[in-house]
Amino acid sequence: MINPEEFLAFLKERRSIRSYLDKVIPDNEVEMILEAGRWAPSASNKQPWEFIVIKNKEILREISKKAFYGKHIKRAPLAIAIVGKIKENPNYYTQDTSFASMNMMLMAWRLGIGTCWTGALEREAVKEMLGLDEADYLLTILPMGYIKGNIPQPTQRKNLNQISREM
Ligand SMILES: Cc1cc2nc3c(=O)[nH]c(=O)nc-3n(C[C@H](O)[C@H](O)[C@H](O)COP(=O)(O)O)c2cc1C
Repeated sequence: MINPEEFLAFLKERRSIRSYLDKVIPDNEVEMILEAGRWAPSASNKQPWEFIVIKNKEILREISKKAFYGKHIKRAPLAIAIVGKIKENPNYYTQDTSFASMNMMLMAWRLGIGTCWTGALEREAVKEMLGLDEADYLLTILPMGYIKGNIPQPTQRKNLNQISREM
């Protein structure tokens, strides 16, 4: 098992990365990232998700145009679209897919691959590009690539005493 202090340090080291090297991510690493998503918890273990690996530069460019703060997407060697299958877990598909996305981001980070959650997105337009339908919820697009330049400084966090309490 991983040493707890090292694990906490690992969690703290992760950053959202918006600058990527123009370097192919090998298939075995992409597969490890997908595997990390596959092993995320889900309500009633329904696994209501689909992960779409997008390598097509033109599609990445088009998605980038539909992201309000996602110009970096077009510079990523690939992105993974995380899709919730609404009918498969109607009450929990957002939570389930969110856990999958976190697992993938952490696996990627361990591989030296930066990712960035995309929230501000014209979802309907991107869904159409990906051939999704109304029973699909596009949670996020996770662009990913080896980190270009320096790892950004940590973003600020609230203090524990501001956000936790005992009873
Ligand atoms: C739900 C959600 C939506 C986000 N949307 C975007 C986004 O649209 N564009 C972007 O560049 N970063 C986005 N981020 C990344 C956050 O800005 C980032 O996680 C936050 O500033 C903390 O920085 P860190 O991830 O480096 O710790 C999003 C993160 C989350 C969790």
